[in-house]
Order: sequence, then structure tokens, then C-alpha cells
Amino acid sequence: MIADVVVGLQFGDEGKGKVTHQLARNGNYTHVMRFNGGCNAGHTIYHEGKKFVTHHVPAGVFYGIPSIIGPGCVIDVAKLFKEIESLESNGIEVYDNLLISENAHIITDFHRAEDKKEEKIGTTRTGNGPAYRDKYFRKGLRAVDVPELREFLVDVFGELHYEDSTGKEPEVLCEGAQGFGLDIDWGDYPYVTSSHCTTGGAILSGVPHDSIRDVYGVAKVYETYVGSKNFETEDPVFELLRSAGDEYGATTGRPRQIGWLDSHSLVKSVLLNGVNKLILNKADILDNIKTWRAWDGDQLLCFENSDEMEQWVGSLFPEILTIFSRSPSEI
Ligand code: IMP
Ligand code: MG
Repeated sequence: MIADVVVGLQFGDEGKGKVTHQLARNGNYTHVMRFNGGCNAGHTIYHEGKKFVTHHVPAGVFYGIPSIIGPGCVIDVAKLFKEIESLESNGIEVYDNLLISENAHIITDFHRAEDKKEEKIGTTRTGNGPAYRDKYFRKGLRAVDVPELREFLVDVFGELHYEDSTGKEPEVLCEGAQGFGLDIDWGDYPYVTSSHCTTGGAILSGVPHDSIRDVYGVAKVYETYVGSKNFETEDPVFELLRSAGDEYGATTGRPRQIGWLDSHSLVKSVLLNGVNKLILNKADILDNIKTWRAWDGDQLLCFENSDEMEQWVGSLFPEILTIFSRSPSEI
């Protein structure tokens, strides 16, 4: 197979939904597969002038591409059906295109109740962490155990490892959720989510490493984080930035804490994910507030304009195509 991967390079909410949606439209993919996370994610997608927020369903459904909820994901069954109904009632054909990996895990009432009591991390309280814990404790419930999901179930190996009579291989777009700073291994533990948010997460989902063609790393030109740790520093501009960028959680509505782009974390996440195409979203928001800043180690850099900042980011990654994006729907 041939695979492209979309990963978040910061703390989620970088605009992966937009990038996946555009790639699904422009590419020749036979499948789109979400490879981690569950209903903690909120992917905002503008499709034909309408705004959608998906939580479980991969963005391939917008273009009639078979879309898999992969083995590294967890599913809240009632929420999934609500999401399907909402997409269907807006003209998106989900029943015809959605596939669920038999070995994806299920978020139960017990997981939700437990997560509701969570206070330390500031989780989305949607039961994701307890569902992953039980998966690894080997007492989880899997999609194959849930009769309502039967019509969607697939074995990912059978679905993705084939060659048709013309010799054509599957071409898979792997859609990540959350981001490097929230990754269970690489994020700021314990202020992390419970899944693998890196390119490694796609490989764990049945995508051999040598099938990977492009890794699209998605970041914003500034950073945001939602959760309990102190992230935001004192800067009067951040309040302005929060409202200009509408930085409120797509899943929980919580205000996102703001920071300037951190070049050291960005370099690390680009290298560890093997990114070869870098997209920095929301450049239009810094243009709106006419302030362009970034951290370079301990030093705050202040740029005169967007071009200057874009050149500096480009200089960090001379080998990588770097794009500053200014539109909520186009790259
Ligand atoms: P959990 O994934 O609900 O357990 O939450 C763990 C941490 O990850 C919390 O700080 C959440 O706010 C954060 N988080 C989880 N999913 C997302 C997401 O899709 N976008 C942004 N933050 C997220
Ligand atoms: Mg989001």
C-alpha cells in the first residue's frame, strides 16, 4: 500500500481536520483511517460552506471514500451514532462509507463515570483514558463485541493489504488526532492523552513503515493547550489572540490557553514524526492582530511582519516544504 500521514505537532487543535479534508478531496485515496483517540477529539471541517465538527468519523466520508476508525481508536457508541445521524442529516453519506476496525476499543458507561471525576489532568471527561487503561489491562470491550456495530466491522489487514487485478494497491490517508505535546510517550506526562499521536501510531494501526510516502505535520503559527497545567504566560496580547482565533475547545467549549510558537518543540516533533510537509495554520489570525512572535529557546523573537516570520520558520527546516496557511478551509 501507499500511505500518507497527517499528525499534530503541538497540543491538538492545529487544524488536522482541515488538512485531511483537503487531502481527501485532492488525492486518489482508496481509504482514510483515523489511527488514535476517540470522542475527545474535535476536528473542525468546512465542507461546501457548512461547518462540521467530527469526533470519531474520519474526514474521507465527505468525499465518499471508505473511512476506517482504526484499531488504535476508542469509540463511544451512542456518540458515534449521534455523529453519524448529524452528518447524514446534512447530506453526508456515512452509512455507505464508514468502517470500524474489529479490534478498536469501546468506551463504556463505567469509563465515562470514572473520567467525570477526573481532576488532575483536565481531561475532556469523555471516558477516553479509562477505556485505554482497560485495553492495556486486557479487560476492555472491543468493537467486535458490540452487536450495533456489526454492519461496520472490518479486519484492517484484509481491508488494506490487497492488490486488485490491475495491480493497483490501496492508498491510505492516515488521520491523527490530538498532537505531539499530548502524546502518551512524548508529551508532557501526566498532562497527556492516552494514545499514540505520532506517525508511530499510524504504523501501529497496520500501516507498514515502508509504505509511508508523505508525513504532513500540522501546527499553528502560535500554540494553544487545553487542560489543567499552567501553560499561558502573562501577555496582554493573548486575550486578543484567543478571541481573534476563536480559541475555545471544539469538544468541551473550554477556553484554550495560549503561547507563542516554540521552535525547539516544533523541531523535535517534526524530526520524531518524520515530517516532510509542514503546514502552519491560522497565519491570518496573527495578521489580524498585527503581532508576530515566537520562542527560540529562552529568547522571544518579535517579527515585523508575516513574511519575516515565515522565512524564519523556513530556515529551521531547509529540507522541508513549509506552508503558512491563512484560510480555515484551504491550505
Ligand atoms: P483526554 O484525552 O480526554 O484524557 O484528555 C487528556 C488531555 O488531552 C487534556 O488536557 C485534554 O484537554 C487534551 N485533549 C484531548 N483531546 C484533545 C483534542 O482533540 N484537542 C485538544 N486537546 C485535547
Ligand atoms: Mg480539536
